[in-house]
Amino acid sequence: MPFPIKEVRAAYPALSDGHAYLDGAAGTQVPQSVIDAIATAYRTGIGNVGGTFPASHRSDAIVAACRAAVADLVGGRPDGVILGPNMTTLTYRLSRAIAGPGDEVVVSRLDHDANVRPWTQTGATVRWAEVDPVTGELPVEQYAGLINERTRVVAVSAASNILGTRPDVAAIAELAHRAGALTYVDGVHATPHGPVDMGAMGADFYATSAYKWGGPHIGAVVADPGLLETLRPDKLTPSPDTVPQRFETGTAAFADLDGVTAAVDHLAAMVPGTGTRRERLLASMAAAEEHELGLFAELVAELESMPQVTLYGKPARRTATAYFNVAGHEPRQVAEHLAKLGVNVWSGHSYAWELTGALGIRDSGGAVRAGLVHYNDRTDVERLLDGLTRLR
Ligand SMILES: Cc1ncc(COP(=O)(O)O)c(C=O)c1O
Repeated sequence: MPFPIKEVRAAYPALSDGHAYLDGAAGTQVPQSVIDAIATAYRTGIGNVGGTFPASHRSDAIVAACRAAVADLVGGRPDGVILGPNMTTLTYRLSRAIAGPGDEVVVSRLDHDANVRPWTQTGATVRWAEVDPVTGELPVEQYAGLINERTRVVAVSAASNILGTRPDVAAIAELAHRAGALTYVDGVHATPHGPVDMGAMGADFYATSAYKWGGPHIGAVVADPGLLETLRPDKLTPSPDTVPQRFETGTAAFADLDGVTAAVDHLAAMVPGTGTRRERLLASMAAAEEHELGLFAELVAELESMPQVTLYGKPARRTATAYFNVAGHEPRQVAEHLAKLGVNVWSGHSYAWELTGALGIRDSGGAVRAGLVHYNDRTDVERLLDGLTRLR
């Protein structure tokens, strides 16, 4: 059955504004159901959690439902879902509880800086996994020489936010686990682009951000609750010491959390299906991935045929994310030109600081990023390509 792209697009009110939204890797639009969930939470009345009255009980229920939804999305356990404002904030918080002076951490040059700096700034000894700048691959073999009995954590991305590279996280995790190290997998870019099974990937921690998959600006890190029990993050004295609550500082954005649940429900229902929400998510995200990669193959073929375009990376397994430069034009100029034609793309290093350094383009403004998510269609791709041909 073909991916029901018309129905999926119709669920997103913002898409009717006439722009081609190819900036999903920097944040997606949200479906009406997410807007409704957030508005309804406020309209119905919500209180702080743990109170005695119905509005407080509603917030208790919202938080519990959100943990269950995120767990379904990534294949984790609801009581291991840590919720917070975004991935970066949560990763800083967790990194300090996980590693410190005397430990070793392994980070990669493929990663967004949010899965690099929080680890390099723990005071642990840092070891770097290098990227092949031509293919954009992160070779697994190097990890054997990087991991040892002092390694506390291997931080690695499930997908690069600029090249789309999907490294072999399971193989890296196997090497980490053999040495008794933990894996902290950045799933922020990967999550919207296909089914996620954090267990199969060997992720001890899996980080994701709802605003990359149709939800509000909320981040989550998922881990085994038993593992979380072993960690002692900085926290206020009176705040709950239970897991996962002890990792959640301050008052949560309760209405937004209801939006997160609605986003997961939306993803699960993109294609008709039966079974548990987890089963429907796996089927729906597999269909979305096929849809994205089909369009992406056409986009890449066209970009490769344009002599003025340099496309970075050619990884074997990737998300539908293109990163390219156009000869004679700054990346920002290309993005401005496309914006005038109603085509939204990103330009710059996109916080892939180490990777753009390895590609040798960080100091010259990085490149242009055009990414596809489930709601993009052929018209979006055609408008991008047409815009590039009109660049003078
Ligand atoms: C791959 C990747 N990791 C981490 C982040 C940071 O996520 P957040 O904005 O939730 O802190 C981003 C944001 O663009 C990203 O693309």
